[in-house]
This record gives sequence, structure tokens and C-alpha cells, in this order.
Amino acid sequence: MCGIVGIVSEKRDVAESLLEGLKRLEYRGYDSAGIATLIDGKLAMRRATGKLKALSDKLESDPLRGHVGIGHTRWATHGRPSEDNAHPHSSEKVALVHNGIIENYRDLRHALEAKGHVFRSETDTESIAHLITDFLNMGMTPQEATAAALPCLDGAFALAVLFQDHNNLLIGARRGSPLAIGYGEGEMYLGSDALALAPMTNRITYLEEGDWVEITAESAIIHDKHGDIAIRAIHETGLSALEIGKGTYRHYMLKEIFEQPVVIGDALETMTFGDYQIALPDLPFDWKNIRRLSIVACGTAYYAGMTARYWFEQLAGLPTDFDVASEYRYRGALVDPSDVMIVISQSGETADSLAALRYAKERGQKIVSVVNVQHSTIARESDAIVPSLCGPEISVASTKAFTSQLIVLLCMALQAGEKRGFLSTDKATEIVDALRGLPSKMNDVLRDDNRLQEVAQNIATTKAIFYLGRGLMYPLALEGALKLKEISYIHAEGYPAGELKHGPLALVDEHMPVVVLAPYDSLFEKTSSNVQEIVARGGRIHLFTDKVGHANIGAGITWSLVLPAIHEAIAPILYAAPLQLLAYYTALAKGTDVDHPRNLAKSVTVE
Ligand code: F6R
Repeated sequence: MCGIVGIVSEKRDVAESLLEGLKRLEYRGYDSAGIATLIDGKLAMRRATGKLKALSDKLESDPLRGHVGIGHTRWATHGRPSEDNAHPHSSEKVALVHNGIIENYRDLRHALEAKGHVFRSETDTESIAHLITDFLNMGMTPQEATAAALPCLDGAFALAVLFQDHNNLLIGARRGSPLAIGYGEGEMYLGSDALALAPMTNRITYLEEGDWVEITAESAIIHDKHGDIAIRAIHETGLSALEIGKGTYRHYMLKEIFEQPVVIGDALETMTFGDYQIALPDLPFDWKNIRRLSIVACGTAYYAGMTARYWFEQLAGLPTDFDVASEYRYRGALVDPSDVMIVISQSGETADSLAALRYAKERGQKIVSVVNVQHSTIARESDAIVPSLCGPEISVASTKAFTSQLIVLLCMALQAGEKRGFLSTDKATEIVDALRGLPSKMNDVLRDDNRLQEVAQNIATTKAIFYLGRGLMYPLALEGALKLKEISYIHAEGYPAGELKHGPLALVDEHMPVVVLAPYDSLFEKTSSNVQEIVARGGRIHLFTDKVGHANIGAGITWSLVLPAIHEAIAPILYAAPLQLLAYYTALAKGTDVDHPRNLAKSVTVE
């Protein structure tokens, strides 16, 4: 949440590149944006509320010179989105951008105001600018003032700080929020992630917890949390400027939905071999010795984890708990050091998932993370990583990350089942075989989306909608509902089909669309009875099924989509695609900003 970028260059103006970096970070927040540079040693700033376009227009009519600068795109935490609350925040001596939350900002503000500092915003961030200034006023250098200020801050931050009269200096710091250094020719960079810096460099160092760094156009000096000089590895990212384009697609979300057959195909190529064997990175435990698995994640990744629970229990005989990460430590989870935790996260930076990881790790558990961003904090703090590798996911609504997480988790469950002697070779072969046919089936579903486009026009007029499923289709019902609500703003609820009669059925009437996910599987008859209960009460069933299911569902269905028949164990992966498209086309019909839904941000690095 919030994206930050900084550049210090020997010889060129940096505002345009800062703006380009912010475009690549806009997925992290888009309430307001701003840039500050030094012009002949003096701080200069442009800020604007709303999407980056507003800042870009401002810079066009009123450009900023300067060889050193910082930029920020905001997801508001403290203080409503306004120009005064937009970053950078400044004093007469420093300007800075911040990602995270300063928890003791009220105390700091009171103390600094008492000393005469004048605050101009409602943010927690501004207190950092005045705090550093306070130390500068005592005669400290920028480096000394930063080193003195950082221990006074409680909470999470990634910072980039610009100092009046220091044309060849930027200071960055990280605690709890990610920050990377980029190495260029005659210039150096800071960024929230490698993606922001990809057009300028692919040589990246990720700061560790508690690090701070002084960068000039020629070098970076990193200090660890004790103030000692630290050497951190430089990674080549392999990201290119091209990789994050929308191509011919209208939205990133649509592009990412359509990338899924290729992403899944590539993942299967890496993770399966022979008739049924699974190839995963080495894991620091033996599946045979685990008594209980625990899975934590947030949002869409949580629903991937919930799906995986069925797989680990049904295919590997491994009892599995799953928790929303933000609740895990607050319920006082009892952690057995001989058990294993799986953390699932696309970004690898989600604050709640990271906190759950640390909670379990401190209590001795081994952590395996399923992450897309390879050098993320969650990846680095885990004992092992099983990458989901779906490429950069830019759209705020997660699509290809979800299906690639499912593929990885299913392969893990298959491996666990085999190693634990629970899964027969026949069954493993059957599932791996079915998986290999999945990319082409998904491609067929995606290419035949006319009926989804049509029905989305009706769904767009509704105020509320249910998504129902049983067994493996239940987590997908939750995910389908989440996708619809986050981009179309229609109230959508996912339910286990059997639970409706315990209360929510009262909401069903002739105005209520009910999406039912019912492939012809071992639970079909049960779901079909629930469908009839809804039909009897006037509910408008929108059925996602296969040919046999369609023939057997009974009368009274309002609309249906017939999907290819698919192995029961992998049906949620295939059925995810039309639900993503349904959400997408409904949002289009409603005219919402699909890639930037209101109030949201992609990478949630605050609790
Ligand atoms: C929904 C969505 C979010 C994320 C959640 C976790 O479409 O994208 O619910 O799934 O914020 O994010 P990661 O996977 O980055 O930890």
C-alpha cells in the first residue's frame, strides 16, 4: 500500500522517470500522488489528489527540474485523500515519502508542536519530516539525523527522504514495509518494488528489516538496525519494461485472466514429470512426519488456502487448519513446533500474512510460502518457497495469481499424499493427467465468453447476489463473490449451498440472482436439491455446470453456462475463469474502474 520511488542522478532531470515509476506502483494505491525534487538545492513539490493522471497533468503545465527526487502514490490510512495529506510531506529542510503506519505519531506530533514545528496535514507521516528536521536543527548531518529519528518511530515504514541543499543524497529506510535499491549508470534508485524500477535497472538490492541506506548517484551505503555498515546481495530481476504493458487488452484484469492457460501450462511443465510425479523445491521437513498443517493467507489467497485444505485432507490424509491471517495471532493459535505452516501470498508483502508467519516461526514452526514475488519479505523469511510464478499481476483484483496458487497447492497435496502413502498411483496419475488437459479446457472457456458478457448486463442491475457451492466449489463461491464485489461494488455473498436454509434463504426472492457452481460431481445431487429449494422461492438461478449436470439439474433455471467436463479434484481451477469474467463484464457494464477499484490497493502492507 502506497508506492514510493526515488532517483538521484549525476546529470539528468528525474521528474519524468519518477512519474513512470509511480505509474508502475499505482496498483499499490491511487488516492493521491506527489513528487518532490531539489532545484538548485531548494525543495520543490507538486501534489494532486486522485489518480496519477492528475499529477501528470500538473507536471505538464508546471514541470519540475532537478537531478534528485522522490515520488509517492497513496492509499490513505491517516487523513482523507486531499492535496494537503498527499505525500511528499515536508518541513523547511526535508521532504519525504512513506509507506506504512507510524503508530506513535500523535505523541510525536504533540512533542514537536510544543517545540514550534508547524504541521500542515492530518497524516502520521508528517511527524517523521519534523522529527528529522528537529535533529537537523541540533546541528546533525542528514545521516546522523536519520539515524537518530528512526528509533523514535513505532510502527511500520519504508521511507525515502530528500534533504535541502544536498543535491547528491537520498536516504531510504525500511522497517516492516518493503524497499529496494536499484543500481544504474551514473544514477541510483529507491523503489517499493523491482517493478517500479524495471525501466531503469534490473540490478536490485532488497533492504532487510531495520536497514537504512544513504544513496548518491554513484553508490549506496547500507546500515543495519544497529547502525553497522551492512553488505546486501545485488539480484538481477529479469523483469523488463515490456512485461507490465496491457498489450491489446482494455484492462490488466482482462489480460491477466486470459494469461491463465499459459501460466498454468508453464507451472505444470515445471512441477510435474512422468505419469504422475511432482517436482517441487526441497522442503525442510518430511511430509510423513507432519501431524497437522496450518494455512494462513488473506483475501483471494485465503480462498486458495481454503481450497487446498480439501486437497490436503482428501488426497494426503493430512489434517489441515486454515486461518485468515489477520485473525491468526489474535485467536492465540496454539502452535506445535513439529507442525508446518503454509503462507500464501501473491505479493509476499501482506502485513497480516507476514505477522502470522512470524508468530508461528517464533514458536518454532517451519514455514513454507507459496509466493509470486520471489524476493518479497514473506519469501525471504520463510524456510522454503514454492513459487507460484504467474508473472507480474498488476490488476488489483487477483486472477492468475489465484489459479497459479491453486496449481502449486494441488501439486503440494499430491506430493504429500504420495510421500505419506495415502494416495494411490492410479489416483495421482488420474489427477496429473487431468491437470495436463486443463490449459486447453480453460482456453476454450475463455474464448467463448459471449454468454457471460450478455448475462453480466442483467447482473449489473442487481443490488445483491449469492454465490453457492459445496465441497471444493464452496471456497470458489467465496472467491467468485469477492471478485464481483470488489470491482462492481454489488453486494455479493458466498455460501456453502447447504447452509442457505439456516438463515440466508430469507433474503431470496424473485429479484435475487443466485450463482450456483455445480459440476456433475459426487455432491451434485445435494447441490441440486438446494437449487430446487431456491427455485421454489422464486430465486433466479445462474448455473455453472457441465453437460451432465445441465441435463440433471431439473426445471426452473434462469440461466446456465455449460463448461467442459473436468476431474472433480481440479474443477475449481477451471470454474474460476468464468467467474472472473462474470465479475469483469459486470464491472464493465456498471462503468467502474476495473483495474483500480475504489478504496482498495493491491499490496496491503499495513495491518
Ligand atoms: C482480491 C485480492 C486480495 C488479495 C489479498 C492478499 O482480488 O487481490 O484479496 O488476494 O490482499 O494479497 P497477497 O496475495 O498479495 O498476500
